[in-house]
Amino acid sequence: MNNNIVLIGFMGSGKSSVGRLLAEATDRFFLDTDHLIEAAAGRSVAEIFAQEGEGGFRQREMALAKWLQVSVKNAVIATGGGMPMVCNNLRGIGETLWLECDLEEIFERLERSGEREKRPLAASKEVLIARYAEREAVYRRTARRIVDASGNAQTVLARILGR
Ligand code: ADP
Ligand code: S3P
Repeated sequence: MNNNIVLIGFMGSGKSSVGRLLAEATDRFFLDTDHLIEAAAGRSVAEIFAQEGEGGFRQREMALAKWLQVSVKNAVIATGGGMPMVCNNLRGIGETLWLECDLEEIFERLERSGEREKRPLAASKEVLIARYAEREAVYRRTARRIVDASGNAQTVLARILGR
């Protein structure tokens, strides 16, 4: 068993923020798939979308997911919100945990400065609503555990740890 925890969920559900705290609390290393892809490409997610389209970005996510499965142990991995749609091996990487958060709270989080610009698919509320509708069932069936991701990051961490 690789002992990884794989956080899945929509943009802004808190995978990166909560993931860092969870890694510290459980003595695991923290990895973020968007950051790994950016480091490998030498470009931001927004630049990759602009230059290669969504398809190019998804190819990179699929290649990364294969690598994570064979190479990573004892980590908390924050995945990009679209990964469960294209990567069918997430359960093979570790214990998948869905940070379930309602769309209104997600809108508020993404309204904060800088958060939308980082995410090409967060350009409009309509796009977010459509993507969420496509994804909800996929998150549900990919998740081994579902955690309520409303409230601040410490509250969510406590829920995950069962405290
Ligand atoms: P994700 O990795 O799922 O896209 P992030 O952790 O990057 O989400 O969070 C996106 C934004 O929402 C950031 O501005 C972050 O500070 C804020 N945020 C994340 N989790 C929470 C939370 N539980 N409560 C309030 N704000 C949060
Ligand atoms: C995406 C989510 C983003 C990032 C990219 C696409 C998506 O990651 O991978 O902008 O399709 O939901 P976060 O979920 O960390 O915001």
